[in-house]
Amino acid sequence: MQSVDELIASQKPGFALDQRFYTDPEIYALEVERIINRNWILAGHQSEFPEPGDFKVFNVAKESAIIVRGSDGELKAFANVCRHRGSLVCLEDKGNTRKFSCPYHGWMYDIDGNLTAARSMDKDFDKSAYGLRKVSLEVIHGLVFVCFSDDPPGVGSARRDLAEPMAMFDFENLKVAAHKEYDIPANWKLSIENYQECYHCATSHPEYAQMHTLMVYWKKREPLQKHMLDKMESCGLRNIEVFAYDEETPEGEMGYQYSRTALFEGYLTGSKEGKPVAPLLGKLTDYDGGGSDFAFGPFSFLLVYSDHAVAYVFTPVDHLNCKCDIYWMVRGDAVEGKDYDVDELTWLWDVTTHADKTIIVNNWKGVQSRYYEPGPFSGQERLERSWIEWVLRELKRS
Ligand code: FES
Ligand SMILES: [Fe+2]
Repeated sequence: MQSVDELIASQKPGFALDQRFYTDPEIYALEVERIINRNWILAGHQSEFPEPGDFKVFNVAKESAIIVRGSDGELKAFANVCRHRGSLVCLEDKGNTRKFSCPYHGWMYDIDGNLTAARSMDKDFDKSAYGLRKVSLEVIHGLVFVCFSDDPPGVGSARRDLAEPMAMFDFENLKVAAHKEYDIPANWKLSIENYQECYHCATSHPEYAQMHTLMVYWKKREPLQKHMLDKMESCGLRNIEVFAYDEETPEGEMGYQYSRTALFEGYLTGSKEGKPVAPLLGKLTDYDGGGSDFAFGPFSFLLVYSDHAVAYVFTPVDHLNCKCDIYWMVRGDAVEGKDYDVDELTWLWDVTTHADKTIIVNNWKGVQSRYYEPGPFSGQERLERSWIEWVLRELKRS
């Protein structure tokens, strides 16, 4: 039997991954240690926690974090693991509280993670030594990221280089209008690989393919792109491109990117028939007919239309299951029922994600067959190829 190192070395460039990368629990354990727990993952938006004591629980693979606004008004994250004998402390998904009480033996923690009560312990028991463990958390222009490492990648370059594109859409003041979690019974990498390529869009996503131009050849896309670029400035947007992945990633930092792509003519935003679904974001004064792609690290992606943003986060549950969290965000002062309707807002990416789930699960079923053999990537799967090459490099990095 090949070792993991030998398997990585035998991976054919330009071809899909070997079956063991999807099915082997030993490789998954290595992924947890070297990829999943080492990287930043989008956990939501700061507007979800307006008041001290507002919290939510964020789960990835074997880890669970409580994200909470502390008494000093700062957002913090703590391991959802009791310092007594390790029970999960918080069993609610979200809410507002003044304290977290462990359901097992009742140890109590305040919203700053301090242990405040522990029944029947010795007189000399030092509560101050048993606060909840801290989990790394960063807020990047309103977006909340968590990393389950005490030595996470830096985010300074991303914060600096994405400041202008994020300010155009006023990320700081967005709000989450809807959040849905999609369970996908498949290895997590298949979900992210699927998001990275649009080779499948024409065949699997009639709704998306009507309005997005990503899967058409450059020659056909170029005039649409030029039309959007000509219009952009008068709509309040600047033409910016940022790419900091692969060799371009700053040493020791998270990778990131930003670009904007035209929609087909007549489509103003990502909705049924391209009709506006919410008030224009940030400083926008009109629709330029584009959609912006942001990416943050290996798990978190955003698509920003002129009137709303959609964030996609793909995370493993175990080696056989993963989930996709989608956050639909609108400007913070938009009012539900008056300025936007949640069903209209979520229609496109709900229908598209259900279709993606089906193709990912079918892919997963086939990949487990004894007849599965990695096939060659097409030119339209360039990003997916770079992503799996990154995964293989990270698996080798001890
Ligand atoms: S495990 Fe939490 S109080 Fe005992
Ligand atoms: Fe898709």
